[in-house]
Amino acid sequence: MFAHYTNYLIKLQKANLLRSLEVPKQVRLDFSSNDYLGLANSPSLLEAGYETARLYGSGSTGSRLLSGNSNLFEDFEAQIATDSRTESALLFNSGFDANIGIFSSLFDKNDLMIFDKLNHASMYRGAALCGAKLLRYNHLDYIMLEHILKNNANKYKTIVLASETLFGMDGDLADLKTLAHLSTTYNTMLYLDEAHAIGIQGQDGYGLATGFELDKNRTILMGTFSKALGSTGGYVACNTLIKNILINRCPSFIYSTALAPFCIGASACAWEIVKTKTKERMGLIETSNGLRNALNALGYNTLGNNTPIIPVQFNSCDEMTRKKENLYKNGILVSGLRRPTVPSPRLRIALNIKHIESDITELLKALS
Ligand SMILES: Cc1ncc(COP(=O)(O)O)c(C=O)c1O
Repeated sequence: MFAHYTNYLIKLQKANLLRSLEVPKQVRLDFSSNDYLGLANSPSLLEAGYETARLYGSGSTGSRLLSGNSNLFEDFEAQIATDSRTESALLFNSGFDANIGIFSSLFDKNDLMIFDKLNHASMYRGAALCGAKLLRYNHLDYIMLEHILKNNANKYKTIVLASETLFGMDGDLADLKTLAHLSTTYNTMLYLDEAHAIGIQGQDGYGLATGFELDKNRTILMGTFSKALGSTGGYVACNTLIKNILINRCPSFIYSTALAPFCIGASACAWEIVKTKTKERMGLIETSNGLRNALNALGYNTLGNNTPIIPVQFNSCDEMTRKKENLYKNGILVSGLRRPTVPSPRLRIALNIKHIESDITELLKALS
C-alpha cells in the first residue's frame, strides 16, 4: 500500500536529494540562521514575550473573528502600518500563511500573476491555490517582465507582479524602482514579499519598500517576524480595502487560532528594536561585502550583493555536501541547499550582527 512512498524516498536518496531532520551538535559557529539582528535570544524579547503571556495568557483561545482579538493585535498592526507607510496592516500566524492566504483570497482564474522565477515556495503555493494564470520571468530580468506585460495587457481582470525584495536564497535585491514603474505603466498590482528584508533593509530597517515612493493603492507588502525579528508570525501591510477583503475571505486568517500572545509581545518588542539598529545594519553589510570579496578571491562563485545572505555555488550536490560536512567537522554550521529549493547546489552563508571578525576569519580558513 505504501510502496510508492518508499520508492519516492529511495529515488531522492539515489539523487542525493533526500531531506532529513538533524539536530546539530557541537556547533561553535552558526552561519545558518536567519536571525540577522541576533534577536532570537535577546533578553528584551524574552521578557516582553513573558510579560505579554502573563497578561493575555499562553494561547489566544480562538480566531481573531471569534474570541482571539484584543488590543494587543490591533496596536501592533497600527504600528506596522505606520512604519510601513501604509493605511493598514493585518497579522498572520506565519509568513507562509500570509502568502498562501492572501493570494488565494485576492486572485482567481480570471487573473494573471507574474513571478520572478526565484520567488519563495509559499508564493508558488498561493498562486496554485488561487487558480490564477502564472507566468514567470527569469530572476531579476525586467526586460523579460516587460515583454510579458506587453503581451498580456488588458487580457485579465487583474494582473499582479509578485517578487521577493531581498531574495532569501540568492542574497540579491529586486529593483523596486523598475518594478514600481512597470506596475504603474501596465496598471498592475505589486506584491512585495519583504520576509528577508524586514529588519535589515530600508528606512529604519522596515523593509526595502520604505526607501521608494510606491503607489500604496496598488502595492501590498508582506513580511514576517521569523527572520531578523527573531520571533514568529507574519503580516501584510496594505490599504484598508484589501485588509477588509482579507478579514472576510482569507482562510488562513479566518479559520486559524490567532498567534500566541508571547509571539506578539516578542515580535512587537523586536519591531521597536529594529529602528535602533542602523549602525549595526551598516556594519553587517560591510562585513558581508568583505566576506563575499574574500570568498571570490579564494576562487568561490558567490551570488548577491550588499546583503548578509551569501550563497556559494557548486557544480554538484556531492561537492557542496562534502564542503558542508567538512565545515561541520570544524564546528561550523552553514546551510546546504539543492533542488527543488534552489536551481543550483550551494552553501548558504548567513551573517548576523553577532558575528565577529575572528568568526569570519575562521570560516574563511576552513573554506580555503
Ligand atoms: C521569501 C519568504 N517568504 C515567506 C516565508 C515564510 O515565512 P515564515 O517562515 O514566517 O512562514 C519565507 C520563509 O522561509 C521566505 O523566505
